[in-house]
Amino acid sequence: SKYAVLVTGGAGYIGAHTAKALHELGYFPVVYDSLSSGFREAVRWGAFVHGDIRDSRALGEAMETHGVKAVIHFAGLIEVGRSTVKPDLFWEHNVSGTVSLLSTMREKGVNRLVFSSSAAVYGQGGRGPLESIPESAPKAPASPYGDTKLACEWLIDAQCRAYGLTAVALRYFNAAGADPSGQIGEAHEPESHLIPLAIAAALGDGKPLTVFGNDFDTPDGTCLRDYIHVNDLAAAHVAAIEADLPAGAFEAVNVGTGKGASVLEVVEAVGRAVGRPVPHSIGARRAGDPPSLVADPSRAQALLGWKATRSSLDQIVTDALRWERSPAYGSGVRGPAGQRRAKV
Ligand code: UFG
Repeated sequence: SKYAVLVTGGAGYIGAHTAKALHELGYFPVVYDSLSSGFREAVRWGAFVHGDIRDSRALGEAMETHGVKAVIHFAGLIEVGRSTVKPDLFWEHNVSGTVSLLSTMREKGVNRLVFSSSAAVYGQGGRGPLESIPESAPKAPASPYGDTKLACEWLIDAQCRAYGLTAVALRYFNAAGADPSGQIGEAHEPESHLIPLAIAAALGDGKPLTVFGNDFDTPDGTCLRDYIHVNDLAAAHVAAIEADLPAGAFEAVNVGTGKGASVLEVVEAVGRAVGRPVPHSIGARRAGDPPSLVADPSRAQALLGWKATRSSLDQIVTDALRWERSPAYGSGVRGPAGQRRAKV
């Protein structure tokens, strides 16, 4: 293989898709995951090391054993709502975890990093609903989760300048869909994301969907988001690992399509894919939801030579549905193995 890449959080949703993409492009993924929210069943490519990112001894050992040359760092806590009630936990896992990872990389001479950041660094998104967000837009996170992502970006940027680390922070918009193989896909517990909830509602395995508000300043009154296929997102990580950047460079790059879809457009697309309408009602706004978060993805194209190629809403929803109907989803992830996981 080309070389070994440590994938922290590689048993999670985006991490597992990236491990598969790395494998397909000739790299050797070394998944490092505590399985606190990831799934052992999702680790199917390369090697697996069970560990916590705050454990620098175990991290260092994994880097040495496999001759790791680069790190893609997904591991962290992601639930925005939970971060508002347990901010300390988010700082501990996300920020202290990144401190531990960076010092271990330095100790082991690993000088290339791709970091999972988020559109959450832009907070309410700032400008009007039809304006896309460039990387230079004001950074004003609206949750402790977003604070930790921005803090990690600053930390990484400073270490690039100080020690010659080369890093790309990818600011994801709304990751969605699944690998078309049906082997891996999205499975959060509890599920809070729109597309899986809408599919469950249409299939009759879940509650009817509540649309969180239809009085936003957007074309149909529901929130606009930039849904990006998880395989497009995975490809962006490989492009970021391969980008020709000088030593010491730090780059923050949006990963989105540049096109927004409303909650009602998603509901329609899920209805088309399932062949049955999504039972839904209009409810109150969810606290903190910005009206519009749509990427300006031009920098990703210029810097990484990357753009979305499989992120039409219909493609995303079709792939998400295939996964939710797959045996892997039914047995591994929702079955006994899924329930065995320890909670953070
Ligand atoms: N929504 C509903 N009903 C639901 C669930 C969601 O109407 O039952 C709406 C939300 O209000 C929002 C849209 O569907 O307008 C998408 O919601 P998601 O929860 O799927 O995703 P978010 O945009 O809230 O969150 C995503 C990522 C977070 C990240 C955040 C900000 O999942 O990790 O974007 O970047 F922090």
